[in-house]
Amino acid sequence: MKRTRVCDLLGIDYPIIQGGMAWVANAELAAAVSNAGALGILSPNAGMKLEADVVEHLRSQITKTKGLTDKPFGVNLPVLIPEIKELIDVLVSEGVKVVTTSAGSPAPYTGLLKEGGVTVLHVAASVRHALSAERQGVDAVIAEGYEAGGHNGFDELPTMVLVPQVVDAVSVPVIAAGGIADARGVVAALALGAEGVQIGTRFVATHECIAHQNFKDGVVNASDTGTIITVRKLGPARVLKGEFASKLQEMEGRGATPEEFLAFIGIARARTGELDGNLIDGEAYCGAIAGMIKEIVSAGDVVRDIVEGYAQVVAGLKAD
Ligand SMILES: Cc1cc2nc3c(=O)[nH]c(=O)nc-3n(C[C@H](O)[C@H](O)[C@H](O)COP(=O)(O)O)c2cc1C
Repeated sequence: MKRTRVCDLLGIDYPIIQGGMAWVANAELAAAVSNAGALGILSPNAGMKLEADVVEHLRSQITKTKGLTDKPFGVNLPVLIPEIKELIDVLVSEGVKVVTTSAGSPAPYTGLLKEGGVTVLHVAASVRHALSAERQGVDAVIAEGYEAGGHNGFDELPTMVLVPQVVDAVSVPVIAAGGIADARGVVAALALGAEGVQIGTRFVATHECIAHQNFKDGVVNASDTGTIITVRKLGPARVLKGEFASKLQEMEGRGATPEEFLAFIGIARARTGELDGNLIDGEAYCGAIAGMIKEIVSAGDVVRDIVEGYAQVVAGLKAD
């Protein structure tokens, strides 16, 4: 598989990153991905009890990951987490070398992370945000289209449209995210000028992921139209269709205000759906590519299948 600047930047064999996934990007998953030559990413609250201390939880996840792999791995920091400064202290003191920042401006934290010797990748969903992240000094930009599972940009730009425009706009390496789950998607992303990919949904349906079986089954059983964007007014999020998503749709249809959405959703509905497996009262973030995912496999096999498939896809594109 092609080596890109992203491989050198992150110290990995293949330019594939497992995306941060709140509640479900756990140590076993991140370590399995890193052991396969890609980059595993921990989410600070993966598998966490609601009342637990997220800072101590992250520390224990880092320790566990170090016990499972000697390869590089990273941590995702959605910048709205109130404990972000303490989380940065922990990951710097534990020697974590890579952070992905998301869901807001990386401005207040990029300097702090870089002073701690951390490589910073920022998730952006528009050219404007990618340029702003580059100005803040991030090492690479993750251009995430609205096919992606979880929170999306307000402008709803698809990966195919977003990635080449971000590539043209910035000088730092661009990593494509949203709608990629196999070698065909990786080759397409590299053809658009990306130097790596970030994959989320495909890694939910793996043995190592801590997601509840109901959530994994939901991913595997989803059709091409199995996901939907909800809560556009508050912050669009792509989720599995189901009872909870229908309630949100119904609220959107009758013009519910952001305050009404906040009051209804409350806290940790994604934990209810993704960790407890209660898809009636909880949401499950899921990318549109779920329709293509048909079985639960090991995370290492996801990486190996992409690496093996890559050469075949490229060979199939060559002129006779
Ligand atoms: C269950 C789930 C939870 C996610 N949570 C986060 C998160 O906490 N932080 C973040 O930056 N991205 C999050 N994402 C986005 C992923 O990191 C990744 O960019 C995205 O899944 C890529 O698109 P794909 O789902 O089509 O593979 C989440 C995605 C999923 C599926």
